[in-house]
Amino acid sequence: MSAPIRRLIQITDPHIGPARDYRLAGVETLETLREVLAEIGTSENPPELICTTGDIAADGSAGAYRLFTQQLQFLELPYQWLPGNHDDKQVIREGVTATPYWPLLELGPWRVLSLDTAVPGEVGGRLAAEELEFLAAQLAREPEAPTLIFMHHPPIAVGCAWLDAQRVANATDLEALLRRHDNVRALFTGHVHQQFHSRWAGTEVYTTPATCFQFRSNSADFALGDQPPGYRWIELHPEGKLTTGCVFLQHSAPHLDHRLARY
Ligand SMILES: [Fe+2]
Repeated sequence: MSAPIRRLIQITDPHIGPARDYRLAGVETLETLREVLAEIGTSENPPELICTTGDIAADGSAGAYRLFTQQLQFLELPYQWLPGNHDDKQVIREGVTATPYWPLLELGPWRVLSLDTAVPGEVGGRLAAEELEFLAAQLAREPEAPTLIFMHHPPIAVGCAWLDAQRVANATDLEALLRRHDNVRALFTGHVHQQFHSRWAGTEVYTTPATCFQFRSNSADFALGDQPPGYRWIELHPEGKLTTGCVFLQHSAPHLDHRLARY
């Protein structure tokens, strides 16, 4: 019998506030997360793992992590998380009590790595020396294992100048590391609230729509997009191949408040 296809889901940037009725840019962010999770939960093909790539909270509040944990627990599916720039690293560790920060997960032959790109007090991303050392050690330890990397900030430009200024500042360090290994099949990020794909450093880089609102693609300045909430599916095939794509909630047209002038 051939090995099974393994299915993962990436959700990102829920931006939940301290209370249920919190709105950001006119969007009830807890409600749009709930809609995304409802669609994932009713899938005929449920995922083995949900990867959450940061900005769970809009403001790092303990209430946001409690609400997030409640929503995920309704689903009864395994999930993991990593911090984004809007998260508070101390509060998120204490708040998402149901699952600890787990930088290395094993899914059969596959390895799922989480890297922390968030710098306290800053919007932009950076990989601390310990993160790069962790990645280097893991890639050297299991050079044959097909590997996925998840992190909040993308290491590459996506075509929006204002967001591109926030990409991982020392991405060249990551690039050098990835070029020394050939087993990283893909890198998945959040932060940019849009779907994007590029080949970089010998691997595939994918960014994923937010579960709340999207940013307008190819916009030099801050601008909201008009796409609905979304998420990404990832299927891991035998022999280390993967397929991936994004889903937008068709029934959930956003009612955006464009007065949100910055982010
Ligand atoms: Fe972010």
